[in-house]
Amino acid sequence: MLKLGVNIDHVATLRQARYRGMERGEPDPIAAALLCEQAGAHGITAHLREDRRHIIDRDIAALRKAIRTRLNLEMANSPEIVEIALATRPDIVCLVPEKREEISTEGGLDVVGQEAALRDTLRRMNGSGIEVSLFVDPDPAQVEASARVGAQFIELHTGAYAEVFHQKSERNRQLQRLVAAAESAHRAGLRVNAGHGLNRENLPLIHVVPHLEELNIGHSIISRAVFVGLENAVKEILQVMEGYGGASRSVAAS
Ligand code: PXP
Repeated sequence: MLKLGVNIDHVATLRQARYRGMERGEPDPIAAALLCEQAGAHGITAHLREDRRHIIDRDIAALRKAIRTRLNLEMANSPEIVEIALATRPDIVCLVPEKREEISTEGGLDVVGQEAALRDTLRRMNGSGIEVSLFVDPDPAQVEASARVGAQFIELHTGAYAEVFHQKSERNRQLQRLVAAAESAHRAGLRVNAGHGLNRENLPLIHVVPHLEELNIGHSIISRAVFVGLENAVKEILQVMEGYGGASRSVAAS
C-alpha cells in the first residue's frame, strides 16, 4: 500500500505569520498532525529549517512525544540541525538542500558533490537508529550516488513534473525520468519515496512510477483543508492514492 506522510510545515507558516517569537500561537501544528493521523495518514513530516521560518524547535520535540505514526524530519545536513535530530530521534530524516531565499525546497540534493559529508551524517544517524532518506531529482547520477553513500531511501523530487503537468509531452518526459529513477534506485537496493507539488489532479499519473512506498504531501492538503477541513483533505488524498499497484504502467498511455 502506498503510504502518505503529511507535511505540516504550512500550518506552522500560518502560525508564524502572527505569532513569531511568542511562546504560543495558532494554528498548532501538533494538533494538526494528530488530526492527520486520525484521518489515516501514515506519517508526519516537518522541516526544521536553519532560519526557523515555520517549524521551530519546540514543535519537533512536541511532535516526537505526541504522534503515534512515524516522524520524518526534513533537514539540511548542517551541524546544528544534525545534533537536534540525534537528540530528538525521529524515525527517519530526509536530507534536503536549503537556500535562504527559496520559498520551498527548490531542487534536489547534490549527493554527487557531497558524498563524504553525507556518508558521515548517515553513519551517525543510522548509529542512533534513525533511517536516512535523500531528497534527489530523478537524475541517474544522483540516484547512483545515493546508493553509494548507503542511504536507506531516496525521495524523488516531483516538483518538475508538477510544474509542467498541463503540458502533455513535457509532463510525460518528466514522468519517464521519475519511472527510470525509481527503477534504478530499486535495482540498487534503495527504497523509494516521492514528493513536492503533488495534488489531487496530478497524483493519479504518479501511479505509473514503480516501487513507491510513501508520498510526502503538504501544500495541497493544507490548502484544501481551508475549505473542507483537515481530516477530509487528508481522506481525499488517500482516496486518490488508493489502487497504486507499484508496477510500472506505460507513460505513453497516461
Ligand atoms: N518533500 C520534501 C523533501 C519537501 O521539501 C517538501 C516541501 O516542503 C515536500 C515533500 C512537500 O511538498 P508540497 O508542500 O509541495 O506538497
